[in-house]
Amino acid sequence: VDPRYKKISDLLIDYSMGHFENRIELSEKLDETDAFISGINMLGEELKTTTISRNYFNNIFNSVSDMIFVLTDGGMIENVNRTALEKLDKKYSDLIGLPIDQLLVEGEKPLFEFIKKKLGNSNQGVEAEKKFKTSPTDYIPASCSVNFLHREVKGELRYLVTVRDLSKQKEMENLVIRTIVDTLENERIRVAKDLHDSLGQQLSAVKFYLETLINITEDKKISPILTKSGDALKAAQAELREICFDLMPMTLETYGLVESVHELCRKIGHKNLLEFIILPDKHFPLLNKQLEIAIFRIVQEFINNSIKHGRATRITLKFNFGRDKDEVKIELKDDGKGFDKNKLYSGSGTGMGLQNVRSRIRSYDGTIKINSLPGKGTEYGILIPLNKTTLQR
Ligand SMILES: Nc1ncnc2c1ncn2[C@@H]1O[C@H](COP(=O)(O)OP(=O)(O)OP(=O)(O)O)[C@@H](O)[C@H]1O
Ligand SMILES: [Mg+2]
Repeated sequence: VDPRYKKISDLLIDYSMGHFENRIELSEKLDETDAFISGINMLGEELKTTTISRNYFNNIFNSVSDMIFVLTDGGMIENVNRTALEKLDKKYSDLIGLPIDQLLVEGEKPLFEFIKKKLGNSNQGVEAEKKFKTSPTDYIPASCSVNFLHREVKGELRYLVTVRDLSKQKEMENLVIRTIVDTLENERIRVAKDLHDSLGQQLSAVKFYLETLINITEDKKISPILTKSGDALKAAQAELREICFDLMPMTLETYGLVESVHELCRKIGHKNLLEFIILPDKHFPLLNKQLEIAIFRIVQEFINNSIKHGRATRITLKFNFGRDKDEVKIELKDDGKGFDKNKLYSGSGTGMGLQNVRSRIRSYDGTIKINSLPGKGTEYGILIPLNKTTLQR
């Protein structure tokens, strides 16, 4: 037997073990067996380049910092990169064959349905923001970019989903919003205190002098003027108290949110034939001052809207402390005209009120659900998670 066959068989064994760099030298005969050998050498060359490019691709696939999913035509995960396994804390075998929508937080709108609907026949790609579960209680906010993954085999449709973790970015955004809002609120506190301490004191002094004058004067002409001045002065003092309260209710600092909401409702109820029902949880805690101010402003905006737009006659405000003491739940409800939510962001002239409410809540990682129907009243459901800082007074 030609000894070259032994070499061929050894080489094929090498190839099967992944050693694609080995070759066999041709003999001087240059016969058919040599032609066969040169074919096998070429095969080695071919295998080497495809394997290198496959490894090259795998390296890229696994080392990008975004999560990458390949989805089948039915939305099942067919392949996934290492970053996704690490971020979601899952094993490869847990994810393969799983519908991608099962990775989302409960209550999120399905991603795959959206892809199917939006991607259509275009090659533009679609974007969506979704929350990916990392544990039963935690998630990653992420932006997903989706496009078709073109395959050589016709008819086999695949989708490539790139998911970027937005946690850091969101944290940063929240911090910026909170800093801006806190700066504004601190400035209001300062102005309210200044007004109360300086102007308030001086008005009190003037009142004292006026009252002394009223008591000692016997002049019939001057006396009624003095009395009128006294009334005007009392009105000015009341006005000043209103302004200070609007700027910053002092009760908030001393007695906390629920008490200052009571005070707010008393003031408003007097002026506007309006019934308030305030239902605070017995155990509703004192919260961090900035968070209490934020919630107070939200309640203020809700009441203003109920009066201004809803012409409500009854407003119910519920303050609940979550079962596990890790969130506050606030339900605000009116019996007013209600509105069509679909028209909220269409047309011009929409106010800043609800946008401010949303950004305040978002900056604390909270959520808000607004329910409203024309003729059926309006309801806000607000959840704000608590942590060490927000529970600290
Ligand atoms: N309680 C409510 N009852 C009826 N309509 C409401 C109620 N709350 C909000 N709306 C509707 O939603 C719209 C947006 O409210 P938003 O508070 O954002 O703006 P605004 O009150 O018009 O202006 P701003 O708050 O800046 O003074 C309102 O214009 C109104 O049509
Ligand atoms: Mg408003």
